[in-house]
Amino acid sequence: MPDLEQATNGTKEQSRTEGRWFMRFTRAQRTLHAVLFTTFLGLAATGLPMRFSQSAWARRFASGVGGFGTIIFFHKLFAVVLTIAFLIHVKDLFTRALVHREKGIFWGATSMVANWKDVKDLVGHLRWMVGLGPKPQFERYAYWEKFDYWAVFWGMIVIGFSGYAMWFAPFFARFLPGWALNAVLVIHSEEGLLAILFIFSIHFVNTHLRPDSFPMDMVIFTGVESEEEFKHKRTEEYERVASQGKLETRLAAPPQQWQVNFARVIGFTAILIGLVLLVLTLTAYFGY
Ligand code: HEM
Repeated sequence: MPDLEQATNGTKEQSRTEGRWFMRFTRAQRTLHAVLFTTFLGLAATGLPMRFSQSAWARRFASGVGGFGTIIFFHKLFAVVLTIAFLIHVKDLFTRALVHREKGIFWGATSMVANWKDVKDLVGHLRWMVGLGPKPQFERYAYWEKFDYWAVFWGMIVIGFSGYAMWFAPFFARFLPGWALNAVLVIHSEEGLLAILFIFSIHFVNTHLRPDSFPMDMVIFTGVESEEEFKHKRTEEYERVASQGKLETRLAAPPQQWQVNFARVIGFTAILIGLVLLVLTLTAYFGY
């Protein structure tokens, strides 16, 4: 048995360093994602006890960390960090589009903006799932990745605006009617819950638990993927880059063992916290 284990580990180790590896996410993109998911987990872990302050677990959590005042303090702290990261991302998009005149940000194969191919891929994917057609071949971003991106983007605007309106209510009261200030609490609370449910169920399943990626897709942590993965998961992108003769420009070193281990620890911790929060949300919501 140990021999078999050793042999399997040996093969895994070999396949990790063997063959060609390609860059998918830059260091800046990985850092943005890291800030996004840590602050989001923090906002969810502090927002939920406020939302379900009548639950036993919320009260126990609050008394463990020094009361609801502490929870609100950390909620605002995570909110400020997330807002800064979001503003840097938006500034970066406009700089690339308007200053560097980079093509393809708002339209085309590498853009996050949905196009006709995404609609066809969605229909084709559903047909494939029930055995009615071939599996669609994806470009740089699949339709569900674009959906996740825009869900977070618009969610940030709605949750952020309503959050700041509650935080600085006397200032917003100068130009918003009274009912709107009541509405922002409902909007923030419901949109927050929706975001938590979406990220901790659909996003986790889509990204990490699909048969293609199970048990976890490491690329957002390590930044690189093997040629095999690249060809298999994003066939159209691979073929496009190859036909442009640009594959070599994307070559990268394979991930170091410590990077893979670190990614596993961080990734599984995030998924575990997310799942605990998801269960707490559902139990509190349905009043168990
Ligand atoms: C820029 C981002 C955000 C800001 C400025 C913000 C601000 C706030 C403020 C000021 C409160 C009220 C605290 C109080 O009672 O004094 C609050 C509550 C809350 N926030 Fe946020 N927040 C932000 C993002 C988020 C996110 C991303 C989530 C979800 C993951 C979230 C979930 C909640 C929840 C569930 C509540 C409790 C609402 C209730 O009592 O029903 N917030 N937030």
